Amino acid sequence: GLPERVEIYEVGPRDGLQNEKGTVPVEVKAEFIHRLHGAGLTTVEATSFVHPKWVPQLADAEQLMPLLRDLPDGLRLPVLVPNERGRERAAAHACRDIAVFASATESFAKANLNRTLDESLAMFEPVVSRAKADGQRVRGYVSMCFGDPWEGPVPLAQVVRVCRALLAQGCDELSLGDTIGVATPGHVTALLSALNEAGVPTERLSVHFHDTYGQALANTLAALQHGVTTVDASAGGLGGCPYAKSATGNLATEDLVWMLTGLGIETGVDLGRLTATSAWMADKLGRPSPSRTVRALTGP
Ligand code: HMG
Ligand code: MG
Repeated sequence: GLPERVEIYEVGPRDGLQNEKGTVPVEVKAEFIHRLHGAGLTTVEATSFVHPKWVPQLADAEQLMPLLRDLPDGLRLPVLVPNERGRERAAAHACRDIAVFASATESFAKANLNRTLDESLAMFEPVVSRAKADGQRVRGYVSMCFGDPWEGPVPLAQVVRVCRALLAQGCDELSLGDTIGVATPGHVTALLSALNEAGVPTERLSVHFHDTYGQALANTLAALQHGVTTVDASAGGLGGCPYAKSATGNLATEDLVWMLTGLGIETGVDLGRLTATSAWMADKLGRPSPSRTVRALTGP
């Protein structure tokens, strides 16, 4: 069966904007997050405390956080943190939710974190344990859960190993990333079954689909049928690296809300306000939203 309610974990300001060619002014980012909250989203990943040279688009994290202080406590604003330096930067802004980000493959661990897979897990260990000691909530991302641009299809056992390692470190929730959008529903079901068999509780899993091959909604439905109730999505389908054709934007939040509403599944999101927000953001970015739902609802 399908769940009655789905928690949408909005990643537009982080995963979306980190991949934009141009840098969005910090005031626009702050307004974007306020508008997402106004549209009913209750978790909005705000930014990353990573090395500014690695992700210049999010180098303004220190300037952004003070502009979000007026938002209510009920809104969760997770931030990405790769290491102790990042955790300290986030702690200086009283972040209550952080996310570490691992990879299921060696190639992406190297490309994204300049570490082997085991070195990157060792880097997260003190981050997660200190964050937990400080009462923070910790999400653990696992990238390249389905396919990897260098290694091809990713064996299920590799994903299971990394998921178990992150849970053992103390992560509260895991997000299964299809970073390059190659997954198909049968693969999603196979991975979720393998994780179940390995003792990973489904209620602690979220799914994170990029829509490169147009499979993100179908994959999401497969995950919901398997008992997943948290879904990552990006307002307007923001994202897509101009330098890597293998990575486009995330599943658009509007497309997700349209499907869930049709299925009678509650999200708490006001689709009209969300669409207006994405149309506003598309205008700021100077290009139309790739979301089919945004286009259908705002098009000429
Ligand atoms: P490194 O070059 O190995 O860093 O990068 P290092 O540990 O050797 O340190 C070098 C210098 O960087 C030092 O400064 C550190 O202080 C500084 P120095 O002593 O030379 O002056 N430094 C930092 N400065 C600010 N903030 C920090 C920080 N850490 C070190 N946090 C590092 C290693 C992890 C830092 C780097 O690889 C990095 O920042 N990577 C981030 C990459 C990233 O953000 N990728 C995108 C997010 S992942 C994603 O999008 C996938 C996801 O959406 C799921 C999916 O779709 O699959 C989540
Ligand atoms: Mg992503």
